[in-house]
Amino acid sequence: MIARRRDDEIDRIDRACRVVRTILDELAEMARVGTTTAELDRHAEARCEDFGARPAFKGYMGYPAALCVSVNEQVVHGIPGPRRLESGDLVSIDFGVLLDGYYGDSAITCLVGEASEADRELSRVTRECLMRAVEQVRPGRRIGDIGRAVEEHATAHGYGVVREFVGHGIGTRMHEEPQIPNYRTNRTTPRIEAGNVLAIEPMITAGRPEVRVLADGWTAVTRDGSKAAHWELVVAATPEGPRVLGDPVAAGCGEERNRA
Ligand code: MF3
Ligand code: CO
Repeated sequence: MIARRRDDEIDRIDRACRVVRTILDELAEMARVGTTTAELDRHAEARCEDFGARPAFKGYMGYPAALCVSVNEQVVHGIPGPRRLESGDLVSIDFGVLLDGYYGDSAITCLVGEASEADRELSRVTRECLMRAVEQVRPGRRIGDIGRAVEEHATAHGYGVVREFVGHGIGTRMHEEPQIPNYRTNRTTPRIEAGNVLAIEPMITAGRPEVRVLADGWTAVTRDGSKAAHWELVVAATPEGPRVLGDPVAAGCGEERNRA
């Protein structure tokens, strides 16, 4: 069963997503040459307090930090630490909060210092995959339409689609039904109904799509060492169409980031 949320519930998820968006926007500004990934994590956790929110990842299945910060060939679930960002790094920052009983969850990819044209393209196309997927979040479409939209656009650019991690329903738990693969499946998938709230999160690689998890038990990296990008938004299906939660446009999310 995919939860169907009332408008007032969707508004509360929206408020959680706004906190996530605001903090991610600050982190995008901080993600410059010389910043450590632990500094980003400390900022996120401190800012949560200002909003009366709780970092959703910390303690989740034993995860040790508020943020996932995944650099270059790291795809997702990179653990913040003493690593300093360098010019040319491609950094995905994934962040979630619990506010007033409801979850927000979002990810951005940032380009640090002098970014290569190839990295800009990878991040841009990954975000395009996300926005094409968002367009599918309408009553009557199927969950499988989301993955098809992502896969079609990614493979048209010769990129890999990560299969080991998926998007998810979200609301009063961070991960709710359904799972949302970023690739086409032959199975019949549920129809999307008004009130469904979905976290869509394509993870796209410049090379092969296979990943492995490092000895820390979390960090997923591409097996071939190619770079990966990750963008995530929460979207509600409404009778009028997709409603992206957390006001991504006003907060400037989605602009490609390239900070010195
Ligand atoms: N956005 C990721 C997800 O939806 C974050 C989970 S990371 C964890 O799965 F650390 F919390 F596990
Ligand atoms: Co998520």
